[in-house]
Formats: sequence, structure tokens, C-alpha cells
Amino acid sequence: MIENPNEIRDKIRQRFVKVARSPHDRHPFAIGPDSAKKLGYDPAEIGGLPATVTESFAGVGNPFALGELRTGETVLDFGCGAGMDSIIAARRVGPTGHVVGVDATEEMVAKARDNAATVGVVHVEFHPGESDRLPVADGSVDVVISNGVFNLCFDKPAVLAEVYRVLKPGGRLQMADVFLGDDVTEGEVERKGAWSD
Ligand SMILES: C[S@@+](CC[C@H](N)C(=O)[O-])C[C@H]1O[C@@H](n2cnc3c(N)ncnc32)[C@H](O)[C@@H]1O
Repeated sequence: MIENPNEIRDKIRQRFVKVARSPHDRHPFAIGPDSAKKLGYDPAEIGGLPATVTESFAGVGNPFALGELRTGETVLDFGCGAGMDSIIAARRVGPTGHVVGVDATEEMVAKARDNAATVGVVHVEFHPGESDRLPVADGSVDVVISNGVFNLCFDKPAVLAEVYRVLKPGGRLQMADVFLGDDVTEGEVERKGAWSD
């Protein structure tokens, strides 16, 4: 049965409310610090963060492996979840830099704000919002990072247009995500289940 977009969006949000509130329950995909380490994050860096920062990490790769962030840069993290990548980015760019995290799930935004306060990082801000309507000015960002979110966005060209709008000339996009390969069969898609699974 084909669901309408609003129903799918609600299911995606409900899924990530659970990841924010109950990270230690069973989830249909890998989350948490062990997943981050498997995806190539520095184990010492992950181990050095409080559990509440890493327990709801739900990324699918490591955007920091795609390029170094520099001191003083402005970074935008769309679909920031509970803020682990935003906090790591804030530490990399230092207090002369700035990080903005945006997420569609209010519970994730609240957790990300709490997490930044817990680690004492003040040059990061978190906002509720959609990736195709980013709450930042044109040409104001040096690096856009994202981890596991693009596949959940309905209007992918609109998201890429937003990324292009907010980036400064010469800015970078460092995105980790999952993609559907040409050789995936209908049976495999059926077994994978809904967007929110
Ligand atoms: C797989 S999780 C990844 C979270 C985070 N990037 C991380 O690595 O832990 C996907 C996140 O994207 C958010 N999300 C889903 N659709 C979104 C959209 N259209 N715009 C912004 N955020 C969205 C969800 O609320 C969830 O927090």
C-alpha cells in the first residue's frame, strides 16, 4: 500500500522520537557509540563523550572522514539528531567558529541542546526544521555536514538547492548516507520495509 507523504513523515518522526527517548530499546538499525566506532570515528573521541551525547547517534557513516574542518569555520548539520556530529564539529572549529544543527524531530533538538550544555559547548545552536527549508542566511556556511538524513528527505533536489543556497562560494558538502543500488531487487526492497524501518 502506498502511504501519503504526511503519514510517512509522521512515522519517520515517531521512529526518531524513540531513538531520542529510548536509545537502549531495540531499534531496526544500529545506533549508539559502538556503531559510531564501527563507522570509523576515533574510538577515544567517542569514548570521551558523555553517554547521553553518543547513545542516540544514528548516523550511517562519518562525514568528518571526507575533509578536515578548520578553526573559525561555520558549519551546518542538517538532520543533526541528538547532536553528536554538531558537538564534534564545534570542537574542531573552536570558539571562533560556529555550528548550527537542524532536525525535524523536536525531541532530538531538545536532546541536542541538553547535550551541548552537558559538554559546555556554547558556539552551537540547534533548531527544529526541515532540510529543504534551512533556517540560515544565503552564503553564510563554510561546510554543510549531514549523516543518514538525505535518504529520509522527500524532495532531494530541494534539499540540494538549500545546501547550495546556504554555502559560501567554495564551501563544502560532507554527507554520509545510504543509497539504493541499481542491482537491488523488488524483493529486497519489500523485505527492507517502510521508510521508517
Ligand atoms: C538517521 S538519523 C541521523 C541523526 C544524526 N545525523 C546522527 O548522525 O545521529 C536521521 C535524523 O534526521 C531527522 N530527519 C528526518 N527527516 C528530516 C528532514 N526532512 N529534515 C530534517 N531532519 C530530518 C530525524 O529526526 C533524525 O534525527
